[in-house]
Amino acid sequence: MDLFEYQARDLFEHYGVPVLAGIVADTPEEVRAAAERLGGTVVVKAQVKTGGRGKAGGVKVARSADEAEAAAKSILGLDIKGHVVKRVMVAAGARIDREFYISILLDRANRSYLSLASYEGGMEIEELAVERPEALARVEVDPIEGVTTEKAEAIARAARFPEELIGKVAPVFERLWQVYRDEDATLVEVNPLVLTESGEVIALDGKVTLDDNAAFRHPEHAALADAGDVDPLEAKAKEHDLNYVKLDGQVGVIGNGAGLVMSTLDVVSYAGERHGGVKPANFLDIGGGASAEVMAAGLDVILNDPQVKSVFVNVFGGITACDAVANGIVGALATLGAEADKPLVVRLDGNNVEEGRRILAEAAHPLVTVVDTMDAAAEKAAELAAA
Ligand SMILES: Nc1ncnc2c1ncn2[C@@H]1O[C@H](COP(=O)(O)OP(=O)(O)OP(=O)(O)O)[C@@H](O)[C@H]1O
Ligand SMILES: [Mg+2]
Repeated sequence: MDLFEYQARDLFEHYGVPVLAGIVADTPEEVRAAAERLGGTVVVKAQVKTGGRGKAGGVKVARSADEAEAAAKSILGLDIKGHVVKRVMVAAGARIDREFYISILLDRANRSYLSLASYEGGMEIEELAVERPEALARVEVDPIEGVTTEKAEAIARAARFPEELIGKVAPVFERLWQVYRDEDATLVEVNPLVLTESGEVIALDGKVTLDDNAAFRHPEHAALADAGDVDPLEAKAKEHDLNYVKLDGQVGVIGNGAGLVMSTLDVVSYAGERHGGVKPANFLDIGGGASAEVMAAGLDVILNDPQVKSVFVNVFGGITACDAVANGIVGALATLGAEADKPLVVRLDGNNVEEGRRILAEAAHPLVTVVDTMDAAAEKAAELAAA
């Protein structure tokens, strides 16, 4: 999960990373009030989870509450690379002497952590990496040892900070490491870290990515999720612990096992070409234990997708045999009642398939068509979606 800048700012503050005051605001009036509270020069900053906000007109300096309000009017509603600005942060203005760059990130290729740092910040780091790679230090961070004082100083030296600044930036690097480690982040980036005219080192911008796989260790992270940004169907699937990804097509797909579901997406796309370009509407893996409950939850999510025209249930019976899955489907349809209103194509194979097919035949649900092979079932589902 990526955090908004204001959330990163709050985390930084909690860990003692020096930051400036910042107040979030959703309307020009709130921005005016925030600017009045902060006083003096402020910076109005778009809160969107994408880079290059400044260049897109999403970061504006305001010398008065009037200017701040005007800046808010131009920033709120702005579309930055497909992200519409709904919220801004009003930050106290800094008098910047120099801008630096520092990040700590997960280095998957080397199974380690990596710190990138530069004395020459302010520009896009991707550009710096290409144009002046020698100005960007890359220092491995041992996951067990982390960023000790010595390591922080080594990073600062490798990044060519002058000797008199090392004692100032190194403690900030150490604290950023504490954020990275204690919050289970995969990225902590500050661009720019600045030296102010009065000689203070301050994190002026922050980007933090939290590792969702560690969410169980951080119940407090749930509150950081952007409710406005989550697809409601994905949220519902998550509630039921379903492995669901919304796609753009018309054929809902349910299967057991990620590999089977992936190949189901392929056969549906392939069959769809013969039916006006029909495509799969989602990925949904209900895993091994396809109980009626799990099947009902899965069907409920898919049938609530207004784009879905037909559903393809593709199950290979293994530990959970086909008869259990068939009972799951029948039970799910009974649970959903009138909510189930789209045609279902079911293909069952594997353990106890005969009994599974018999159960479905006996139930004779008007919406269910049983097809024996995967290709023929995909064809049928695509045909029904195109109808
Ligand atoms: N509080 C502040 N006071 C003074 N100047 C600021 C402040 N915040 C940002 N700036 C200036 O604006 C520039 C851009 O700000 P920031 O880094 O937050 O956005 P960005 O880099 O354009 O966005 P992103 O990081 O999403 O690419 C900074 O490099 C800095 O010069
Ligand atoms: Mg920045």
